[in-house]
Amino acid sequence: MLWNSLAALALVAPSHALIRFGCSQLVVDRLDPLVNPGLTPSPHLHQIIGGNSFTPSMTPVEHDLAKLSNCTTCQPSEDFSNYWTASLYFRARNGTFKRVPQRGNAGFEGQKGGMTVYYMQNQLADYAQKAKVKAFQPGFRMLIGNPTANTRQEAEKYQQLTYTCLQNPGTRFPETKAFPTKPCPAGIMVNLRFPTCWDGKNLDSPDHISHMSYPASGVFESQGPCPDSHPVRMPQVMYEVIFETQVFNDTSLWPEDGSQPFVWSFGDGTGYGNHGDYVFGWKDDALQKIMDEECYVNCTSMKTQSMEKMNSCSVPNKVHEDIGDNDWIASIPGQPMMRLHAADGSI
Ligand SMILES: *[C@@H]1O[C@H](CO)[C@@H](O)[C@H](O)[C@H]1NC(C)=O
Ligand SMILES: *[C@@H]1O[C@H](CO)[C@@H](O)[C@H](O)[C@H]1NC(C)=O
Ligand SMILES: *[C@@H]1O[C@H](CO)[C@@H](O)[C@H](O)[C@H]1NC(C)=O
Ligand SMILES: *[C@@H]1O[C@H](CO)[C@@H](O)[C@H](O)[C@H]1NC(C)=O
Repeated sequence: MLWNSLAALALVAPSHALIRFGCSQLVVDRLDPLVNPGLTPSPHLHQIIGGNSFTPSMTPVEHDLAKLSNCTTCQPSEDFSNYWTASLYFRARNGTFKRVPQRGNAGFEGQKGGMTVYYMQNQLADYAQKAKVKAFQPGFRMLIGNPTANTRQEAEKYQQLTYTCLQNPGTRFPETKAFPTKPCPAGIMVNLRFPTCWDGKNLDSPDHISHMSYPASGVFESQGPCPDSHPVRMPQVMYEVIFETQVFNDTSLWPEDGSQPFVWSFGDGTGYGNHGDYVFGWKDDALQKIMDEECYVNCTSMKTQSMEKMNSCSVPNKVHEDIGDNDWIASIPGQPMMRLHAADGSI
């Protein structure tokens, strides 16, 4: 129901999106400055959005995204953060692959690929948004999810990484932990919600997760308290990433055994390895100011730029390889193997 109201609101006020805004694609490349800094190519392909200071290696703090970027693909003109998730592939019956195209959400038509990003003080559809949160600090970064997760049990360690099978652009439920098993007429939306409790000290951690925590009980949405180990309540960062899987919705092209044909760029055909990465890069205290405004979607302290400007910001590829946007490719870049079924047999 919550999601219904948000979708309704989005249709009424699509372009004044604070806390909820569109970002176009910056580049699709086999780079991962968080997990594999400097490695060109990194093990798997991502779509990256945000500030154009994005490079294969971004040393925390020294690499000041807001200072080094000249443009951003995000609607807020002061957000030079980088956000990324894996790319998605369709596997044909003959074993060749094509990359699934991406598009913006309803209300963000004209956006080049990309995703929708949220920063929330309270849960969606709480129009007051009054709970105080502390904005991220320069040098902050985190990830959520585990690309090697192979079972539902492993995936469930991460409360809120899910898929929505879009019957239409406004569909918001149900959400599933695994890839949808049937064609989705308006595509697949991947939902990623990051943990919201910070240890108050570390801008990063060796696994890029453990400086953050989920609430001690309940969830962010239920105002669950932060644990003593991670006492600082941060904004809920959420991504909605839409893949135009309907381009491949002809089931005569789907596997003969009835399984679904989509595979993450890290070789996962189950969907349990859903994960996303975040490197904070808002200018000065712009994010804190917005978070202090008690506004819902329409926040006057958020400066915005035009879709044209968002779309004109990009960086050249560092890795030059065929990623399967035009021709069918024999294997996913960097992935000789793929994991079609979960080890526990579930889907
Ligand atoms: C957004 O806020 C401004 C300033 O208060 C107001 O003029 C405008 O009508 C609002 N827009 C929406 C869609 O709520
Ligand atoms: C931004 O502009 C400056 C000055 O023109 C330039 O030196 C720098 O390389 C640019 N940065 C990016 C990421 O393009
Ligand atoms: C593999 O399958 C795709 C999709 O059906 C088709 O377009 C392509 O020509 C096939 N490639 C080969 C080598 O058979
Ligand atoms: C598949 O997508 C096409 C448009 O790309 C649409 O015309 C068709 O109705 C869709 N079929 C299903 C089963 O969703």
